[in-house]
Amino acid sequence: MSRNWAISAEDLTQACSDFSGLDLNRLPAHVAVIMDGNGRWAKARGLPRLKGHSAGVEALKATLRLCNDLGIRALTAYAFSTENWARPQDEVNFLMTLFERVLQRELDSLEKEKVRIRFLGDLNALPEGLQQLITQASERTAKNIGIHFNVCTNYGGRRELVLAAKKLAERCVRGELDPEMIDENRFASELFTAGEDDPDLLIRTSGENRISNFLLWQLAYAEIHVTDVLWPDFDRSSFIKALMDYQSRCRRFGGLDPLVKGRIRS
Ligand code: FPP
Repeated sequence: MSRNWAISAEDLTQACSDFSGLDLNRLPAHVAVIMDGNGRWAKARGLPRLKGHSAGVEALKATLRLCNDLGIRALTAYAFSTENWARPQDEVNFLMTLFERVLQRELDSLEKEKVRIRFLGDLNALPEGLQQLITQASERTAKNIGIHFNVCTNYGGRRELVLAAKKLAERCVRGELDPEMIDENRFASELFTAGEDDPDLLIRTSGENRISNFLLWQLAYAEIHVTDVLWPDFDRSSFIKALMDYQSRCRRFGGLDPLVKGRIRS
């Protein structure tokens, strides 16, 4: 595990004191989340859908804090997909305003907790005011040594791949790049996530077994945890369950379980 070195050993022991049952040496370094079920959460309470998104922000803040406490290196959250523009205009407007408000309200505490925030996606299509806040927040926290918090906004995995391919093709046409030099590392360096290791664990809430155009390249070897919990209800115990599930897996990356390999060799 690559531990977040913004946290002292003492703080970490304190923060982890009630994570019994978890192997703190086998935590994922990068967690990705598809925060689904906000609308259903609100509906179940007789509330407008939009209230579900506001409650979702609280669940996201709590998850970020938990990841930070545990020394998890990166948290990447799917906040708005390239397909979400198809939602009713008032919901889209609400979400854009919510992103702005949250950024304005939380920037000081993100800064205090040494979080480095980045927004990943095609940001040019976002409202001007939101783009400015995103630039400010990214610049202000760029050198922070705490958790990397990536918010995927107007993000689509397919669009990300097409953009990367286009950038590489343009460089080849200009004669700056030999196509023979394009390998997986070079390709990954053109993705929005450049510089970030791939997620080890993907959590999807609300019981849907889909990737929904999220991190199509980066999730190649991620362990997937699907829970029926709706995102606004996703709390500390849900997160610990996801981590326990992750720790129960044997990650082979296309190879063999080391125990099986040992048996074959001997
Ligand atoms: C999916 O639930 C959720 C979204 C499309 C929005 C998620 C956004 C947040 C939680 C806000 C994050 C804020 C910041 C600043 C990062 P859904 O509406 O599809 O739920 P449903 O499937 O029950 O209808």
